[in-house]
Amino acid sequence: MKKILVINGPNLNLLGLREPALYGAQNFEALQAFIRSSAEALGLDVELFQSNHEGVIVDKIQAAYGVFDGILINPAAYTHTSVAILDALKAVALPTAEVHLTDISTREDFRKFSFVSLYAQKTICGKGFDGYKEGLEYLEEL
Ligand code: DQA
Repeated sequence: MKKILVINGPNLNLLGLREPALYGAQNFEALQAFIRSSAEALGLDVELFQSNHEGVIVDKIQAAYGVFDGILINPAAYTHTSVAILDALKAVALPTAEVHLTDISTREDFRKFSFVSLYAQKTICGKGFDGYKEGLEYLEEL
């Protein structure tokens, strides 16, 4: 059974409360339950991880080496700023899919560029919770 690490970055723990017109009314617990049931249906073993701290996310990616078969990451705001997260992903070189609830290509200009996309083999945007399922399917099929 493939082991996938699912990382959610800053402020995603506030789903439901946070700008519901953009991110939806369902809370983070609902997202986690959705990811768990999607993984189970695909026969994947998932670990769910969320942090609001860049360095903690870097540490988690480093620790994934030799333990996980792939990473599904929504780096949230760090998508657009973090060379450190990009470098960590490149260092461990695990198959990686990037997911965003919203379509970052149609929002503010500062969201249009993703450092993580420079490494991720797949990027899924604007599909809400379903994007996580699509990312897991991609990692399962590899
Ligand atoms: C996000 C998009 C980012 O621009 C934003 O900073 C987030 C969430 C998304 O899932 O749509 O926190 O990654």
